[in-house]
Amino acid sequence: MNAQDIVTSIIPHKIPQQKGYGQANINIALSKYWGKRDIELNLPNNSSLSISLPSLGTKTSIEVINSTEDAIYLNNTKIANEELFAKRISLFLNYFRNNNYFKIITHNSVPTAAGLASSASGYAALVIALNNCFQWRLSNNKLSILARLGSGSAARSIFDGFVIWHKGQQQDGLDSFAEPINMAWQELRVGLIKIDTTAKKISSTQGMQNTVNNCELYQAWPKKAEQDLIKIKQAILVKDFNNLGKTAENNALSMHATMIATMPPILYWQSESVTTMHKVWQLREQAINVYFTMDAGPNLKLLFLEQDEYIIKQKFKNIIVIKPF
Ligand code: PMV
Repeated sequence: MNAQDIVTSIIPHKIPQQKGYGQANINIALSKYWGKRDIELNLPNNSSLSISLPSLGTKTSIEVINSTEDAIYLNNTKIANEELFAKRISLFLNYFRNNNYFKIITHNSVPTAAGLASSASGYAALVIALNNCFQWRLSNNKLSILARLGSGSAARSIFDGFVIWHKGQQQDGLDSFAEPINMAWQELRVGLIKIDTTAKKISSTQGMQNTVNNCELYQAWPKKAEQDLIKIKQAILVKDFNNLGKTAENNALSMHATMIATMPPILYWQSESVTTMHKVWQLREQAINVYFTMDAGPNLKLLFLEQDEYIIKQKFKNIIVIKPF
């Protein structure tokens, strides 16, 4: 089945109302997704576990318009239809239209200064807005599948809090969706450290494919990622912060190790990323419980508890601290 078949099998045939609205938050994976078993359907080689960050995300309204093309606005600016951002959205909207076009007005509250990609919250918010516009009343699991077709990690942004995205076994991916873990952790903090916010040269999709095809170490990754996910889930359920942090940091470094061992190498880090890693390790030597995780970019995300928030803010002057619960 291709992506259009999947969408057709999920959505009831409904005439759109004139308007819809959706919002979703970004998420940070604690146990990462790296590598696709199906590129068109964004089906992963391994399950992943994330935490959603409230107040950082996307709000999107959608309107059916009488036009010959989509009109896409990002943060109050019309995006030319030739730009990659608009092209990706229009291609995604093709799955859902009946000869109609859409006006999409989207706002990202993710500060560019935080160095975070917002495609996860973007596609999750868009799918929620479509569900609202067409009155499909789809379950969150179905919305997660549709969001996944826009961007893999968007499958997790349908939910708040801790979330597991199951890799699934089926070829059609109808068993590859995210679900929340019913556990709140009031003391947990996530700190965003900006190193560089310019667009990366290798997209995560391209980086994953290069790693899967040209890295001998990659074959060890899916198994390790599944084991880390179990450890992290257990640490969450018993609120064992050190095990959570230790496993999440090791998981991120292992993912980056596969990228570095790819030919030609993929290294998203900059020298300041490495300096910041050393700073985190030095703080741990001083009994400050802080860990980091990193995605396909040079920026670090720190994990720590409320009790260390003051000292962490002293040590990292430009940090943006988020309280996930
Ligand atoms: O969903 P994508 O294509 O943006 O890929 C996300 C990849 C990582 O951020 C590196 C890992 C993850 O699980 O979010």
